[in-house]
Amino acid sequence: MTTQQKKINAAKMALKRIRPGMCVGLGTGSTTNEFINLLGQEKQLLKTLRYASSSIQTETFAKKYSIICEDIDQFNQLDVTVDGADEVSRQGEMIKGGGGALLREKMLASISKDYLIIVDDTKMVDYLGDFPLPIEIMNFSPNTTINLLKKAFKAYHLDPEIILRVNSDSSSVITDGGNLILDCHCGQILDPNLLKKKIEEIPNVITSGFFLNMISSVFVGDEKGSTEVFFE
Ligand code: 5RP
Repeated sequence: MTTQQKKINAAKMALKRIRPGMCVGLGTGSTTNEFINLLGQEKQLLKTLRYASSSIQTETFAKKYSIICEDIDQFNQLDVTVDGADEVSRQGEMIKGGGGALLREKMLASISKDYLIIVDDTKMVDYLGDFPLPIEIMNFSPNTTINLLKKAFKAYHLDPEIILRVNSDSSSVITDGGNLILDCHCGQILDPNLLKKKIEEIPNVITSGFFLNMISSVFVGDEKGSTEVFFE
C-alpha cells in the first residue's frame, strides 16, 4: 500500500461530508489534491458547490475539474474546509505550512463551521516538533526576526535551528501573500499553546504553523481504509 493510496482513503471519507449547496474551503498539498481528484468525479455535486482556496497552487489544480474558486472575502462563513497537515498530535494540535500556504489555510479554517483534516497515518504523532515548524513573516529583516524567535524559544527550553526557506536556486521562497517563511527545527514541543502565543507576539511574525483547537475531525487513512478521530 502506497502513501498515496492512504491519502486517497482519507480523502474518500471526507468527501462523504460534502452536501449539495455547501461553501467549501480547499486546503493545499498532495492530500488535498487527492480530495479534489475525487470531488472532480462527482460531476453533479461539484456544480452545486461554491469554493474558496488556500493557495494559487490549489486554485490552479482545481480548475482542471472546472472548479472555480472565489475570493475568501465573498464568504462570511464556509460550511466546511478540507485540508491536509504535516503533523497531528493525539490532542488534535497540528503543525501545517509545509507547502507554504499556512496563512491562507488558517484564514479558511477560521471561518469554517467544520474543519476536516485528511492525513495518511504517518502524520499522527505523540508530540509535535519533529516536523520543522513554519513561521510566516513579513518580507523584511529575517535575521533580526530569527534572533527574536530564538529568545522566545529559549524561554521554553528550545534551541531550534531556524532556516529561511529557499527555492532550489537559493532565492527566498515567497508565499502567495508576498511573505517569507522560516522553518524552525524544534524537536519535541511540550506546550504548543504557550509557545504559539510567544512566537505570534513578535512584531514581524504574521502567523505560525501551529493550528491549535481548530479541528472538527481528522480522517486518518491507512491500509484498511480510514478512521475518523473527533475533537471537541
Ligand atoms: C501546506 C500544508 C499541507 O497541508 C501540508 O504540508 C501537508 O501536505 P501534504 O498533503 O502534501 O502532505 O500545510 O501549507
